[in-house]
Amino acid sequence: MRLRADGFPRSLHGRLLILLLPTLGAVLAFNLWSDFRAAREYTREPYDQALADTAVALAAHIQVHDRVLSLDLSPQAALTLRARPFDDLYYVVRGPNGAVVTGQEDLPPPSAPFVQSPSFYDATYRGAPVRVVLYRTATALGEVTVQAAQTTRRRDELTRRFVSEDLLQDSLLVAATLVLVLLGVRYGLRPLLRVRADLEQRPSGDLRALQETDVPSEVRPLVHALNQQLRALRQASEAQQNFLANAAHQLRTPLAGLQTQIEVAAQEQDPQRLREDVAGLLASVRRASHLANQLLALARAQPPASLSHGTQSIDLKEIMVDSASVHFDRAVANDVDLRFETGTAPLHGSKWLIRELAANLIDNALTYTPPGGNVTVRCGVKAHRPFLEVEDTGPGIPASEQARVFERFYRLPGSAGEGSGLGLAIVKEIATTHAATIAITQPERGGACITVTFPSCAKT
Ligand SMILES: Nc1ncnc2c1ncn2[C@@H]1O[C@H](COP(=O)(O)OP(=O)(O)OP(=O)(O)O)[C@@H](O)[C@H]1O
Ligand SMILES: [Mg+2]
Repeated sequence: MRLRADGFPRSLHGRLLILLLPTLGAVLAFNLWSDFRAAREYTREPYDQALADTAVALAAHIQVHDRVLSLDLSPQAALTLRARPFDDLYYVVRGPNGAVVTGQEDLPPPSAPFVQSPSFYDATYRGAPVRVVLYRTATALGEVTVQAAQTTRRRDELTRRFVSEDLLQDSLLVAATLVLVLLGVRYGLRPLLRVRADLEQRPSGDLRALQETDVPSEVRPLVHALNQQLRALRQASEAQQNFLANAAHQLRTPLAGLQTQIEVAAQEQDPQRLREDVAGLLASVRRASHLANQLLALARAQPPASLSHGTQSIDLKEIMVDSASVHFDRAVANDVDLRFETGTAPLHGSKWLIRELAANLIDNALTYTPPGGNVTVRCGVKAHRPFLEVEDTGPGIPASEQARVFERFYRLPGSAGEGSGLGLAIVKEIATTHAATIAITQPERGGACITVTFPSCAKT
């Protein structure tokens, strides 16, 4: 039997045996004990009665001659009395004054004075357990006591036989129960073995659902849960393939452009035009590199990679303060007035992912707000929920486009700059990982305001 680290068996058979054996053992012991008591009770009554009859028979042979008591027992009667195949019989007859008339005068007396006649008690005589009866009878000289004792060998033998027969029956019952339980487990596990065989026979990567209809109701929830996991894996695998195809397609375009630009530059003779071509090349390389960075960020923002970042207690305010200088540099370059209105906003999450989320929102605001505009970054706690908000005075996002801007590679027609259309998809993945909600609103003075609200004391 293989054991787990805590000493408990690994197999169901083993566990059932560990649970059943002590229980059945206890039931068996109790049963034997109560059988033993019952057997003793049942054998006691007829044997006591026979002993009492013996005492009465002895009393019937008591004679009074010349005011002298005697037991007139013919040799035949004495022989009959003693003719017990298993047990020894002893007796003593005492007169009204307690003087022994005949018999074994050392027979053990009762431990308490007896009132009933006949009355019985247990004692030991000549090293063997005996059952004793006391019987009183009236004679012309007064009350005479007959005390008859018999060894208990026969009764004990009967009790032993009774109990050993029961022990045999009970043991058979326990053995049958154990066999039935173990067979039942084996039979009950057959549907699971079928599921296992089904999974083992599949080629690797076959994520089709398992048959749920012909499994027993106890196993169905397990198969159902497995199917849900298989479905999730299927969807994840499809999403990954789509993403890979999209990414390859998106990367091909700038790489093809780069190739053409390099070919043109290679033919260029004029140093001034060559410098311009190289500057164009540099811009294209930057775009391709940005696209690659965004693809990488998206890959790291979605499960299962997103789950591997680990979570910790963080404060949005600290993250904003840490990364502000990078954004200020871009704001100055774009001639946009960038402001931070930050309050402490504690939450549970991944620092790297939250920084990525904030960076994409601020980057969009700075990119799409024309020179002279304003961008305000806020964070804090509203209705017990930490939030991050980026508001700008740019062109805004029309309500009809608000769902689509979170799609991968989607950009609003005529958008400024040369983004890859992945920023808001990254924001959405990170928000989902943190169980946060995203809302796009249009401030009165125009522009866009995107708010990400986290669950209170978010644990992700
Ligand atoms: N603050 C904003 N104001 C106006 N339009 C916006 C704003 N933020 C996003 N958009 C629109 O939503 C589109 C999708 O934004 P997203 O950040 O996903 O991609 P991107 O900025 O084009 O590229 P990337 O961020 O990957 O470099 C943008 O192309 C833009 O049209
Ligand atoms: Mg963007």
